[in-house]
Amino acid sequence: MEVRPVDWGDFEGVAALRLHRYDQIAIDPNFGMVSSPVRPTPGELASWFGELQRAILEGHAVCSVAREDGTVVGLCSIRPDGHHVETRHVGVLGVEVRDGYRGRGIGEALLRHALDACRGRFEEVRLSVIPINAGAHRLYAKLGFEPYGTAPRAFQRGGKYHDFLLMRKRID
Ligand SMILES: CC(C)(COP(=O)(O)OP(=O)(O)OC[C@H]1O[C@@H](n2cnc3c(N)ncnc32)[C@H](O)[C@@H]1OP(=O)(O)O)[C@@H](O)C(=O)NCCC(=O)NCCS
Repeated sequence: MEVRPVDWGDFEGVAALRLHRYDQIAIDPNFGMVSSPVRPTPGELASWFGELQRAILEGHAVCSVAREDGTVVGLCSIRPDGHHVETRHVGVLGVEVRDGYRGRGIGEALLRHALDACRGRFEEVRLSVIPINAGAHRLYAKLGFEPYGTAPRAFQRGGKYHDFLLMRKRID
């Protein structure tokens, strides 16, 4: 397994990982990520990836990819929330490991790699996690993220509302 900064050549694998998320949501009501109800089109995926690459090239974002035997098996990105210059010191983290590859240290390796790359770019990294996503919560706590509040009824799935637990970590 290799973890490194994402590059243009990863597009196909990263797009496949993103689409895999929709398959997960369809079969697992407790899946830990929030997503749009509609699968993105190839064009939308290309725009999203292009925008991510632009943010990386401009020094506003970091993104680490994990590959195993040529397959993209995980991704961790840290990006500002929106395009406001005044909020650029805060990065928002998202991480995802492909089903079948979880529980083998890939998520932790991705987070460590991305958090390392954050130094000098962000002063603080924040994230939100659904309380039912105990595995992700434990991973974040292990890497030094601390809770700082909740966002009540932040999203709904299957007719039920869920809070977000908000976590943050200072970057030295
Ligand atoms: C959450 C996720 C990224 C974790 O990645 P992973 O590769 O499975 O996690 P790792 O194997 O690196 O685990 C690292 C640590 O996280 C914690 N952890 C991860 N999954 C766990 C689980 N299912 N139960 C308990 N602890 C878990 C443990 O503390 C573990 O360290 P340890 O083995 O020394 O105890 C992965 O499960 C995933 O992609 N889930 C679906 C998408 C998602 O929920 N993303 C996060 C949204 S907030």
